Amino acid sequence: MSPEILYALRDPAGVPTQPWLFLILGALTLALHLAAVQVMLGTGALTLRGAYSQSSHWRRLAAHMLTTSKIAVSVAIVIGVAPLLFVQVVYDPFWYTSNVLSGWWVIGFILILIVGYIALYAFYWKNHHLASEGGRSGHWMVLSLALLLLVGYIVHALTNQMLFPEQWMAWYAPDGNIEPTGRQLHYSHPLRFAFFIALSLPVTGAWLLGYRRYQQARPDADADYIAWLKPLAMRLLTLGGVVSVILGVLWMLTLPEKMAWFALSPWSVLALAALLVTVAFPLLLGARIDRGYWGYATFGVGAVALIVVCAVREVLRYVTLVGSHGYDALDYTVHMDWYSLLLFLLTFAVLGGVTLVYMLTVAWQAGQTTGRYSPSPALSWMGNLSIGLLGLWILAYFAIGFYVWAS
Ligand code: HEM
Repeated sequence: MSPEILYALRDPAGVPTQPWLFLILGALTLALHLAAVQVMLGTGALTLRGAYSQSSHWRRLAAHMLTTSKIAVSVAIVIGVAPLLFVQVVYDPFWYTSNVLSGWWVIGFILILIVGYIALYAFYWKNHHLASEGGRSGHWMVLSLALLLLVGYIVHALTNQMLFPEQWMAWYAPDGNIEPTGRQLHYSHPLRFAFFIALSLPVTGAWLLGYRRYQQARPDADADYIAWLKPLAMRLLTLGGVVSVILGVLWMLTLPEKMAWFALSPWSVLALAALLVTVAFPLLLGARIDRGYWGYATFGVGAVALIVVCAVREVLRYVTLVGSHGYDALDYTVHMDWYSLLLFLLTFAVLGGVTLVYMLTVAWQAGQTTGRYSPSPALSWMGNLSIGLLGLWILAYFAIGFYVWAS
């Protein structure tokens, strides 16, 4: 496919701000999305492992991880929208073609996700007394995990099909016969997919270290349970980290020819280093892991490592499309739109920031209190502020709409 055709597929309206900003935000939000996906899958798997155990510690963990997994699905979905917006803005010729070639799966993605999410709730509804009575109807949880993985596989295929414009015609019209149903996923790289999914193991290990520290800080802390959690978290982090790194190396060794330059580049070495630092971090911390906020730090370091991995993944895509197909995402025509840029940044930083800080503080403090919890007046004020800001946002949204419509 010639670069001229690829450029002709671009949106003639251009983009509302500098394309590099979209690339940076795309990598950043993809890292957040993947962190939520990996916590969702890891805690879901721990739920299944613990629900049927004879051990009261395992069942207690399963009950807590079920709540985590349930929330993580919604976080993964909500945050998944952000990289979706960024990728379709700067890579629209590639993203939309890939979607059209597998249209059946793009629509199916939503239905599969809905059923997967409902299945998780079905398991939850059946298991209100998981810690004391053990698990029931595990098939719902198995179904949920399988469907959520399928959803991830569909995005993986879409995101990879876009990197092969030279194949698009053959996929669209094999042997010259048009195949209009969109029922096929045409390209996947199982080792790449396995790498991103396997990262659930170390990410969940880091999550468990934070969960353990959180339990430790409660007034009614159960020392036995907390001691039991540590080796489990460390096993997931270290063994899971090693498994992920091996899969990452195998992915690099099997890169398609046009991407082979990437395997031994400083970029992949950087991603490898970031992952290894995360795995080694609790060892560096030593006894400090039980003090202050250090118990949470491994997850923070892991989040930074995920940002590095996603940034490096973006380098692979950007250079492949420039080098092999003559398409430079950074030369997109810019039609600066200060209003939408400011609205986006304010929504992200102010509305999102205030609301998140409020919700996280309430959840945090409630979990650290025995008996009835009442937020302080300052915190309640913050809650009201986030509702007020949301009201203001809705007002601004309709006001600008009416203004544009009327002028
Ligand atoms: C809940 C199950 C999900 C799983 C297991 C999952 C997993 C993944 C994985 C493994 C990748 C990386 C693929 C690769 O690079 O090969 C990915 C990328 C992506 N995911 Fe998800 N995902 C899920 C849901 C969603 C949802 C609901 C959305 C959108 C609302 C979404 C949006 C995206 C986007 C846009 C990318 C690629 C961004 C890019 O190429 O720049 N995902 N996801």
